[in-house]
Amino acid sequence: MILLTGITGNIGSATAKALLARGVRFRALVRDLAKAAAWADQGVELVQGDLENAESVKRALAGVDRALLVLPNGQTQEALELAFVRSAKEIGLPWIIKLSSPEAVRGTTSPIPLAHIAAEDAIMASGMHWTFVRPSFYMQNFRSSLKSARATGKLSMPMGKGTVALTDNNDAGEFIAYILTDADSARHDRQCYDITGPDPVMNFHDIAEVIGQVIGQKVAYDDCDPAAFQEAIRPFHRNQWHSDAVARLFAEIANGKTPGHKTDTFEKIMGRPGRSLRKYLESL
Ligand SMILES: NC(=O)c1ccc[n+]([C@@H]2O[C@H](COP(=O)([O-])OP(=O)(O)OC[C@H]3O[C@@H](n4cnc5c(N)ncnc54)[C@H](OP(=O)(O)O)[C@@H]3O)[C@@H](O)[C@H]2O)c1
Repeated sequence: MILLTGITGNIGSATAKALLARGVRFRALVRDLAKAAAWADQGVELVQGDLENAESVKRALAGVDRALLVLPNGQTQEALELAFVRSAKEIGLPWIIKLSSPEAVRGTTSPIPLAHIAAEDAIMASGMHWTFVRPSFYMQNFRSSLKSARATGKLSMPMGKGTVALTDNNDAGEFIAYILTDADSARHDRQCYDITGPDPVMNFHDIAEVIGQVIGQKVAYDDCDPAAFQEAIRPFHRNQWHSDAVARLFAEIANGKTPGHKTDTFEKIMGRPGRSLRKYLESL
């Protein structure tokens, strides 16, 4: 039995969709049964629980042989992921797949990647089989950029000369569903998969150009003031900690500390390239 966490979010829902498309039955731990009702209608076994509550985690893990751990960025992410790993170990979970980030590189001082590193370390030390899936910067981070580019002719982000590789959430979900169901699961044991789409590594001028091609209008990259940007996107963040942590992460990208790196991992494992930024933006 497979257990997914996070199915009411981006990557968990993309994984759930891909598992259903493969005809695979699975269980999902959700905080709010009503919010996840549409999944139950499609045959997903829902277990009400919360990663804050170890007993509910163990209940959800009963009889499970592989579990996907997904949590949003936040002040408690590290503690909750470490608690999940402890519960999984106690109950004897054979295989854990963790959604992580390629920015989780030693030497970072940014809280979001540091939380991922702590959880990865705990998993590697746990004795469980493990796989880390680390999608690069989500294309979905540009979901609202078409509208603002149409209105202003700009892509305004404080990313300096920073570079990113990009991944579509749906590709990340399909990738995770594939490895969760691969008959040759042993080949994914102790693998850290940094996945990206097919685009070359891009700076934000390059991304502005693609946005311009899609909307049929010239779009310029505006390397805006980080503080003003943080203020503008504050409504999308859960709290001040989250807002500051994202600002730190973006600053590391902007100053070149975590340059984008493209990999062929997705294409090698899936036997097809991922979706390009242009195709993703055209689908909106
Ligand atoms: N943004 C990027 O470019 C990027 C790139 C690579 C990796 N990442 C990583 O992706 C991860 C976030 O994934 P996502 O975008 O899929 O997240 P998301 O859309 O924010 O979804 C988070 C999910 O976790 C659930 N959740 C939150 N707290 C929970 C708790 N205490 N117990 C049980 N479930 C809980 C949420 O359920 P509710 O519906 O109940 O809230 C939701 O289903 C982060 O760790 C981030 O570092 C992001």
